Amino acid sequence: MGYVARVLALVAVGMFVSATASVAEEKDPLKPRVPADQLAEAKQMKNPVEATPENIAKGKALFEGKGTCVNCHGKEGKGDGPAGAILNPSPRNFTNCKFHKKRKDGELFWVIKNGSAGTGMVSLVPAAITEEEAWTIINYERSFCKE
Ligand code: HEC
Repeated sequence: MGYVARVLALVAVGMFVSATASVAEEKDPLKPRVPADQLAEAKQMKNPVEATPENIAKGKALFEGKGTCVNCHGKEGKGDGPAGAILNPSPRNFTNCKFHKKRKDGELFWVIKNGSAGTGMVSLVPAAITEEEAWTIINYERSFCKE
């Protein structure tokens, strides 16, 4: 099954499950996901896309459209999308400002590119989006923290 078909199947099952069951918890969001031997390098990566209002709007469109992120992370970024409901651990809640303070953009990029081992967060670059689109979405994900 292709990537998009898999996500759509997850959405269908998730809509059913979210109506009947409670949502799983996140795995500790403050612990790094990048393997120790690549962490320093990931932290040093700079986001080449500026966080202007225009680029954040582009990120929102990608998050809710082509990127399929919304299916798991939810429209409000709380990790409560229809497919997210069946995942254990639960998708990241991007409204948690403590999480954003702990992570550099490069660490988020690393996970979007490589996935987070043992979770529903699979590699999405280049399966669903380009590297530049990933950086663009990161700016939008940051905007869910309102502090
Ligand atoms: C099939 C469900 C699913 C989809 C689709 C999905 N994610 Fe995730 N995502 C997850 C889960 C589950 C986690 C939590 C992983 C963990 O705890 O290690 C996560 C975690 C993350 C994280 C946190 C990484 C960290 O450092 O802790 C980022 C950033 C992220 N996703 C970005 C995205 C982006 C961008 C998209 C769309 C291009 C996307 N995700 C699509 C399920 C998904």
